[in-house]
Amino acid sequence: MHVPVVIIGAGPAGLALANFLQKSGIGCVVLEARDRRHVEERQRAGVIDHYAGRLFEEFGLAEQVIGGAPVETLLEIRVEGVPRFLDGPLLSGGRPSRLVPQQFLVRRLITAFEEGGGDLRFGAADVHPHDFAGDRPRVTYRDPDGVTHELTCDHIAGCDGFHGVSRRSVPDGELTTFTFDHGIGWYTVLADAPAPRYPLMAVSRHGFAAQFARGPHASRFYLQHQPGDDPRNWPDAYTWEQLRLRLGDDNLPEAAISGREVVEMRSFVAEPMRSGRLYLVGDAAHIITPMGAKGMNLALVDAYALATALVTAVRDGDDAGLRNYSDTCLRRTWDYQEFSRWFTEMVHDSGDPAPDAAFRRRLALARLDRLFTSPAAGAAFADMMAGTAL
Ligand code: APR
Repeated sequence: MHVPVVIIGAGPAGLALANFLQKSGIGCVVLEARDRRHVEERQRAGVIDHYAGRLFEEFGLAEQVIGGAPVETLLEIRVEGVPRFLDGPLLSGGRPSRLVPQQFLVRRLITAFEEGGGDLRFGAADVHPHDFAGDRPRVTYRDPDGVTHELTCDHIAGCDGFHGVSRRSVPDGELTTFTFDHGIGWYTVLADAPAPRYPLMAVSRHGFAAQFARGPHASRFYLQHQPGDDPRNWPDAYTWEQLRLRLGDDNLPEAAISGREVVEMRSFVAEPMRSGRLYLVGDAAHIITPMGAKGMNLALVDAYALATALVTAVRDGDDAGLRNYSDTCLRRTWDYQEFSRWFTEMVHDSGDPAPDAAFRRRLALARLDRLFTSPAAGAAFADMMAGTAL
């Protein structure tokens, strides 16, 4: 079977790309290693920034795919228990982001693709891209019945995440990789605690904490912890005590905790995001800290950049967009990495109680204060939160 584009991976990147191509009349097949249920239930990101939302509008998919509540207008940043509020959409000139939990986004993208007649194959094992250095790439895989298949194609989109096969298939020496460990761990718990009025981040000498709504009756809490420590062993009473201290809220009631995870803050970028006719998209090419909520948005913008480049290449025979794909996406990737690191440093350093961190702590608090006192600084922050145009 020959198809113009084979997409490896059905996460946000692969599914967005599949829909953009389908809307443009370019044929593609999506190969996903896991089963449908796993993909549809995976909970990770939850914010589509204003710019990424506009990309879905451009393809007539906004209503079906990202319809949902605009994100709360205010962000609360509490410093040692004292609340301060930032109005992102106002500061960015009216560009609100949207709350779209990843599992809803993914389900809607699957539905839209299948309703349009899309070919999405779950449970594809041993997926391998081949011959992408030439102009006749192939992808082989085994279906759930154990039958081996081969697809020939013009282009391969590697949308298979950080641990996928695509990046690993690039010949040795072609990629330069950058890895950074921020030295910060987060313990995240899902609890039956009423949602906060506004998304809340708290800076304190006890460490960073945050609380975000997960529906009206549930919250996801985040607590900074020392790397190496395993907070999944913390007694729940200790978790609640820490949250009360860090959020500066003595009355925060204990609630049932249903999910416990540990996130170590790491960043990664692979350059270039292409090898011949294999393109790396989303987490396959880069991972970023959760600060600023840019991981999924980067994946969606990569998908958009690749889709528009593939459309002109396949339809018009013009591959200038494909030649520029990596540079275009890397520019944005590094811009967002810088923002995410800046944000991470600001909220973690400003609570660091270590004596040798006293100077950095003051700097971070000044940086934080500037967001509220300088309209230009507030607007620059809000601009990044809204997402910057390609
Ligand atoms: N073959 C086929 N599919 C694969 C393979 C493989 N060898 N390896 C991984 N996959 C699939 C995974 O099962 C997953 O469904 O590829 C998909 C990759 O999805 P993600 O890891 O979510 O990556 P991406 O689509 O780039 O989205 C990245 O979304 O979750 C948010 O913020 C998060 O930064 C992240 C962003």
